[in-house]
Amino acid sequence: MRIIRIFDTTLRDGEQAPGCGMNAQEKLQVAQQLARLGVNIIEAGFAAASPGDFEAIKAIAGEIRGPVICSLARAREDDIRKAWEAIKDAPKKRIHTFHSTSDIHLLHQHKNMSRDEALKRSVDAVLFAKSFTDDVEFSPMDATRTDINYLCEVVEAVIEAGALTVNIPDTVGYTDPIEFGLLISTIRKRVKNVDQAVISVHCHNDLGMATANSLAAVRNGAGQIECTINGIGERAGNCSLEEVVMALRTRRDIFNADTNITTEEIMRSSRLITKITGMSVQPNKAIVGINAFAHEAGIHQDGLLKDKTTYEIIKPEDVGVKKTEFVLGKHSGRNALRTRLEELGYKLSIGEVNRIFEKFKVLADQKKTIYDEDLEVLVAEELTIVLEKFFLVALWASSSTLRKPSATVGLKVDGIECVETETGDGPVDAVFKAIAKMTHTKSKLIRYEVKAITGGTDAQGEVVVSLEENGRKARGSGADTDIIIASAKAYINALNKLAANGSK
Ligand code: KIV
Ligand code: ZN
Repeated sequence: MRIIRIFDTTLRDGEQAPGCGMNAQEKLQVAQQLARLGVNIIEAGFAAASPGDFEAIKAIAGEIRGPVICSLARAREDDIRKAWEAIKDAPKKRIHTFHSTSDIHLLHQHKNMSRDEALKRSVDAVLFAKSFTDDVEFSPMDATRTDINYLCEVVEAVIEAGALTVNIPDTVGYTDPIEFGLLISTIRKRVKNVDQAVISVHCHNDLGMATANSLAAVRNGAGQIECTINGIGERAGNCSLEEVVMALRTRRDIFNADTNITTEEIMRSSRLITKITGMSVQPNKAIVGINAFAHEAGIHQDGLLKDKTTYEIIKPEDVGVKKTEFVLGKHSGRNALRTRLEELGYKLSIGEVNRIFEKFKVLADQKKTIYDEDLEVLVAEELTIVLEKFFLVALWASSSTLRKPSATVGLKVDGIECVETETGDGPVDAVFKAIAKMTHTKSKLIRYEVKAITGGTDAQGEVVVSLEENGRKARGSGADTDIIIASAKAYINALNKLAANGSK
């Protein structure tokens, strides 16, 4: 099986993402994590870009052991010298130099430079870098928009000059897997000294194909992938490390290739980058998104409970995620609910689970996600056995700045339905008045508390009401996503307790 080298450029191309700048201390911390992750090469920065970049690369070269430490350099002697100065303390070091080769770049960015001149500068840069270190990489920038005959000529010439790695960048994320695969295989067929170098690929994600393009290149003989954690990088970003690594690991059967990455460190690396750059990962991002191992559909949850392989192609533990998360929502089934209740420590009968399941489905229609706290409320409601003299059937309440708040409440009192409308100082007051009228109770409200049990705007609210009647006190609680309904439930719950005490 071929081992593909992972060249991580989070600290160079990744850092070029808008808003992703890192200070030297943060870069060192990232480099330490990249070493734990087991990347082969760390592109620690662009030494000539700024004194800060230079110092950060130098610090990384002085401290990090394991991966090759690399600095980027334009095809200019002063850049290459600075790159060398920055990396020279590392036990394993690389200079990565580059020059544009596409006609578009040569015309507009290099003042109509000829192809011959660009080739000469590329070769000279490699030769100069070789005077410092044997490990030299060259990139013909904008390779995917470069004339293929000229590109092959450049690749052959820089290998002849001593480049041990030739990187083929899709600088503007322009290619697609079929075209890019063909490009790599053409280079491998036409460049006669190609076996003296590793062919690397560096894909940008402008059309969302960076990972697919990199994998197509591997199928066609590329031996190194340049990528970043969470896919951060210029514009739409770079090929994402976690995606290519896990694609190769999961589909070794089709790629016949793997990497030496310690995949269990992937999630930790991703979180570190998020923390440092402040750039969060989209929830449905492959491998490291918060939903990547979360299942809500009842059929999927049921299958997973029977056997993980039904709906999971990667074990979450393999990328450093503790376990599959079952998100309970309206698509979840009874089996997933029962499992979660058991995990929470409840030992419930089949009947209790079934009744909780019915209430759970009603609640799930009202809120997107059912949290453990929501389940606890449902269980508490199920297990609290109160003689229900009064039972809420329906409620309608209005509040307004223009007219007095009012409420219409439907109740069952001793099994008989009744309806009453009242106005009040607020909708809760109006609800309480309507309930008091129908239940013929004269209790005094001693305390009224509102708590949000779960977070978010669709949170379950819990209301606690304390009542006093004829010297007897009772405390009732109710939960609902609607705080007025929760108030009504709490009030009725307290009245039921007062009624139950009175009848003893
Ligand atoms: O995207 C690109 O072409 C680059 C080169 C410097 C390799 O980042
Ligand atoms: Zn790039």
